[in-house]
Amino acid sequence: MRGKFITVEGGEGAGKSTNLEFIRRLLESEGYQVVFTREPGGTTLGEDIRELLLGHKHTGMADDTELLLIFSARAEHLARKIMPALEFGKWVLCDRFTDASYAYQGGGRRIDLERIRQLENWVQGGLKPDLTLLLDLPVDVGLTRAGARSEPDRFESEGMVFFDKVRNSYLKIAAAEPERVKVVNAAASLEEVQRRIEMVLKAFFRAQSESQ
Ligand SMILES: Nc1ncnc2c1ncn2[C@@H]1O[C@H](COP(=O)(O)OP(=O)(O)OP(=O)(O)O)[C@@H](O)[C@H]1O
Ligand SMILES: [Mg+2]
Repeated sequence: MRGKFITVEGGEGAGKSTNLEFIRRLLESEGYQVVFTREPGGTTLGEDIRELLLGHKHTGMADDTELLLIFSARAEHLARKIMPALEFGKWVLCDRFTDASYAYQGGGRRIDLERIRQLENWVQGGLKPDLTLLLDLPVDVGLTRAGARSEPDRFESEGMVFFDKVRNSYLKIAAAEPERVKVVNAAASLEEVQRRIEMVLKAFFRAQSESQ
């Protein structure tokens, strides 16, 4: 049977990377084989593109260039890693995916959403994540957390207005697709965040076994 595709989304410093390991353990304790990956990146070529996107060498990159680079990395990621793993029956757990393109390049940079949809259809066909955890928190809290962690990357150097648009776009996606996208209050303590993540995943596992 084909594996499931789970993505974790949210703004800067929301706790995506922190919680991925926790999610992996939950999946493995259910007996699933897990492939762990991230966007932009996930493949050798994709990680090179990630450097172009997040580094400070190309600060003035045009918005369309940014979007196309992201979808190039995604095409490689799907062809070389995600699709083969799903077809093999593995579960794929990914730190950010296409919702981030709608939120950052659509919401943040104001690229026409229809363009993003066209690229999504081209690169993904009908493929969408089966489940998305959206870690939501006020922008300033996330930026403080991320700032305490490392030097800001090219996106983290954006201002509050940009990140507010990103957050609102994510919430809009969650409101439009409540079955797929589950919002987790990421401003809470890590313990509380993980309790909620576990609840969402347990419900997802139940739904899987009922549909078999
Ligand atoms: N619930 C929490 N409460 C307090 N601090 C947290 C919580 N979750 C994560 N952190 C801390 O916040 C910082 C950012 O977390 P993390 O790197 O996981 O965020 P991220 O969503 O992956 O960020 P980015 O978008 O930049 O990759 C880390 O130092 C982490 O330890
Ligand atoms: Mg991270």
